[in-house]
Amino acid sequence: METLQQVRPEHLNHYGFLFGGYMLMWVDEAAWIAASLDRPKCHFVTVGMEKVEFHHKVQEGSILMLSVNEVKVGRTSVSYQVDVTCRHAAGHERSAEPVFSNQVTMVRVDDEGNKIPL
Ligand SMILES: CC(C)(COP(=O)(O)OP(=O)(O)OC[C@H]1O[C@@H](n2cnc3c(N)ncnc32)[C@H](O)[C@@H]1OP(=O)(O)O)[C@@H](O)C(=O)NCCC(=O)NCCS
Repeated sequence: METLQQVRPEHLNHYGFLFGGYMLMWVDEAAWIAASLDRPKCHFVTVGMEKVEFHHKVQEGSILMLSVNEVKVGRTSVSYQVDVTCRHAAGHERSAEPVFSNQVTMVRVDDEGNKIPL
């Protein structure tokens, strides 16, 4: 699954670049959407992400593409690799650059929030 996200002024930190918390939210959300589309009868919550590292600044006006791929299926959990690439605002011809990656694990839960097998 792929999804797009525009970086708007309200997403910036006080240095003028993307605030990392928004990146984490979009990555978590994209993994949840993929899990829910792949297994429409299941309800999921996030149990974990990998170690988080930010090595690239993201500018206002960038368009982020989040590519989400299932990488592991367990008893109650499913893990998705989320790779984020960045295209700069109009006027730039540069190709998409990788800016962030993480693996997000979702656990299937029942109506009370207890884990249950997939
Ligand atoms: C999700 C939840 C029901 C899981 O219950 P738990 O008893 O803590 O889970 P367990 O330790 O038994 O692990 C359940 C599964 O998740 C996996 N898991 C647990 N911690 C993990 C981590 N940090 N990274 C990856 N996978 C993880 C386990 O390997 C296991 O997988 P499997 O059943 O497919 O083999 C419970 O932790 C919970 O309710 N967490 C809050 C969820 C939430 O609110 N998320 C939003 C945060 S704001």
